[in-house]
Amino acid sequence: MATAITQEPLHLIDVDAIVVALGGSELSGPAQELNTQTDGALQRMIDANEASLKVGVTTSWLAPSGIKAPVVMLVGLGSCDSPENISYFKAAGAAAKTLAVKQRNTVAYYFPECDAAALETAVSGSLIGCHGQDICRSKRDLFTPDNILWATSDAATVENGVIISQGINLTRDLVNGPPNMVYPETFAEQIQSLGETTSLEIEVWDAAKLTEEKCGSLLAVAQGSAREARLVIMRYRGADVADPQLALVGKGVTYDSGGLSLKPSDGQKTMKCDMGGAATVVGTMQAISQLKLPCHVIGLVGLVENMVSSNAYRLGDVITARNGKTIEVLNTDAEGRLVLADVLDVAVGQKPAHMIDLATLTGACCIALGLNVTGFMTNDQDWCDDLTRAAATTGEQVWQLPMFKEFGSELQSKVADLRNIGAGRWGGAITAGKFLEEFVSEVSWTHMDIAGPAFADSPKKWVDGGASGVMVRTLIEVIRQLEK
Ligand code: BES
Ligand code: MN
Ligand code: ZN
Repeated sequence: MATAITQEPLHLIDVDAIVVALGGSELSGPAQELNTQTDGALQRMIDANEASLKVGVTTSWLAPSGIKAPVVMLVGLGSCDSPENISYFKAAGAAAKTLAVKQRNTVAYYFPECDAAALETAVSGSLIGCHGQDICRSKRDLFTPDNILWATSDAATVENGVIISQGINLTRDLVNGPPNMVYPETFAEQIQSLGETTSLEIEVWDAAKLTEEKCGSLLAVAQGSAREARLVIMRYRGADVADPQLALVGKGVTYDSGGLSLKPSDGQKTMKCDMGGAATVVGTMQAISQLKLPCHVIGLVGLVENMVSSNAYRLGDVITARNGKTIEVLNTDAEGRLVLADVLDVAVGQKPAHMIDLATLTGACCIALGLNVTGFMTNDQDWCDDLTRAAATTGEQVWQLPMFKEFGSELQSKVADLRNIGAGRWGGAITAGKFLEEFVSEVSWTHMDIAGPAFADSPKKWVDGGASGVMVRTLIEVIRQLEK
């Protein structure tokens, strides 16, 4: 796959398909030129409401005379004057996904009058829409074209859009990978191989090192699995700043059976997605290193499998986390917070100015916010506000949940410093957040619960079902805004 720019008139170029986004009923630039070349056919389609202007709705214009390409795919950007950033993502994704039903040599795109941010987003969307969850299929559903051309002069922005799409698709591939293939050791190996293709410095902790580092909480979760745990630290040094400006921490439960508090079959079916937080960190780290952003950022992921065996951790066990706190385990399915407890503590030791953790942490967050919204919880309102602003820019939907101290009181244990679940099921996303807060010390921190949006059971018009890569775009935006 190669993406490049073109400034040739679209009707003359030899491509399999042309995508034209419609930003309103006024045509401009190359779209106006296509209209002229076809004797006003495009304008007639629009005037007759045959080409929808609705976001992500596609219309195929087959074998138009006067145009070399056999297909022009029209896609709506919304009928308002200045479409939101996310509309570019959805429009490009929907066109790409519609065209991806067969292998094509070259597809050309024209998006009218968009600024660099919109163009970058559209380019990303075009490469995400044609990349599916069918990674283990001998006959694929979606095909990425061999070549993509963008009708623009801004090659640098197109290149950035490609890099961002590669980060998102890396996240998606890792999450979509089945749990018999993606487990702590293989996940860590994949991260290690990034060290060879990027400027990321990679450090992998195996079980022996984790024991030496007293990561008793993470290791308790891992002990029921035949697969050994890993903790991986990725460092990107794109700025000469001594301490990291940001630490990204990801939950990497490569499969969550629930442990002895076993999930029913239906609840287990998609639990390969439980390393979505870790995969988001990895995709973001790859992207920021390739974008060469001027920043010092570290990424840390805790990789374990939560299984059932005679060696599995039990309800009633008391375990000791790396920061010295003792935890009474009252539900082995509340394992993500136990993994993150130790990874957050390792991150704190790196003295980051800010931290963000990402985790498919609670079903309760899906109950609270639905399946498309990321839940934010924080100990630093200004930091959370920065992240909320970044999400508003990218159009990824987020909502903050309160961290009232009463939720924390539910975590008191009679036998240990903490228990790993709240007293009842209500407010479960927040009690999980309050648990994590016990391990972030004084560092400015926001927790992102992505249990809802990380993985979709059914496809959307602009992207296949399965892993979404949610929050990668927002994290990149946050990192671009970091104070120097
Ligand atoms: N990985 C799950 C949360 C989850 C649920 C992610 C649905 C994605 C979709 C997590 O480890 C879990 O099992 N949480 C429990 C916590 C409870 C035992 C306090 C839950 O949400 O039920
Ligand atoms: Mn669980
Ligand atoms: Zn889990």
